Amino acid sequence: MNELLDPHNQNDAELSLRPQFLNQYIGQVAFKEQLKVYIEAARLREEALDHVLLYGPPGLGKTTLAYVIANELGVHIKTASGPAIEKPGDLVSLLNDLEPGDVLFIDEIHRMPMFVEEVLYSAMEDYFIDIVIGERDNPRSVRFDLPPFTLIGATTRSGMLSAPLRDRFGIVGHLEYYNIEELSAIVRRTAEIFNVDISAEAAKSLALRSRGTPRIANRLLKRVRDFALVKGNGEVTTDLVDLTLEHLGVDEAGLDRTDRAILRVMIEDYAGRAVGAKSIALAIGEEAETIEAVYEPYLIQQGFVLRTQNGRVPSEKAYKHLGVAKND
Ligand SMILES: Nc1ncnc2c1ncn2[C@@H]1O[C@H](COP(=O)(O)OP(=O)(O)OP(=O)(O)O)[C@@H](O)[C@H]1O
Ligand SMILES: [Mg+2]
Repeated sequence: MNELLDPHNQNDAELSLRPQFLNQYIGQVAFKEQLKVYIEAARLREEALDHVLLYGPPGLGKTTLAYVIANELGVHIKTASGPAIEKPGDLVSLLNDLEPGDVLFIDEIHRMPMFVEEVLYSAMEDYFIDIVIGERDNPRSVRFDLPPFTLIGATTRSGMLSAPLRDRFGIVGHLEYYNIEELSAIVRRTAEIFNVDISAEAAKSLALRSRGTPRIANRLLKRVRDFALVKGNGEVTTDLVDLTLEHLGVDEAGLDRTDRAILRVMIEDYAGRAVGAKSIALAIGEEAETIEAVYEPYLIQQGFVLRTQNGRVPSEKAYKHLGVAKND
């Protein structure tokens, strides 16, 4: 995937763009309203906030929101990644130095090893962990009591999470793709931080082509800013947005080369018949996981691809977009 458009790809500059508090966090309005209540209630009761699960495609603001929640609660946050927690002892050391009420953020929680996940259950429910130590013929169980804490788990793949784990989260937020107004607001906020002038139309035009994703909106803005400096007078206009995105291979619907390659495989190789992510992945040389987590959700959300019982099929809109006649 084009590095610039890869919503997984993060860098340091991104950190400085992260909103710190809920009132700076744009969009996700319904979930934010709920969160405000739960956070306020936890503060009033002086208890740890219930565990929070954040679902959603990459770049929609899960990590950002985890930090925002900790800031709003006024507690520390410790972060870890699912695959990096290899044994129950790793969990103990992560949880052991939390203060009461602190947040443990586990990114990619669906990729935690199963036997670690099972240890997490009691930690989440009753704040203790039992670990078996000693020789194989003389095993002993040792109990570690933990401070009350809030686990925030993030995952891009809702289907990959086991039911017992999912059920232990009291608060579940399904982050949605951002609408054009929200993305325009994010672009204007970022432009202000960068100290770049951008017209309202240019912000909207960028928003329209950012796949509903703040990370991509910010990333594209950076590139347009470069073109504006070198090819224009520094101000970001719609013409400069068009010029930049043409260079990047992003079309007027915000689809990149890989999106179009996926549609082309579906329409030309499979003649519009139902097809699975694995076959598409093979045809275009991408990972099936990336297609399922990154491309497909957006293509479905935009109505280019339709879900059917047998698999995915291209829509009327997809044929039109590629300029291919549909013969039934
Ligand atoms: N609601 C928002 N308002 C303003 N900016 C946002 C918002 N959500 C995300 N961003 C911006 O988008 C960038 C990406 O967000 P973030 O890293 O939180 O995404 P993520 O969902 O954790 O992605 P991944 O699945 O790849 O971990 C952030 O650096 C931030 O600048
Ligand atoms: Mg993240």
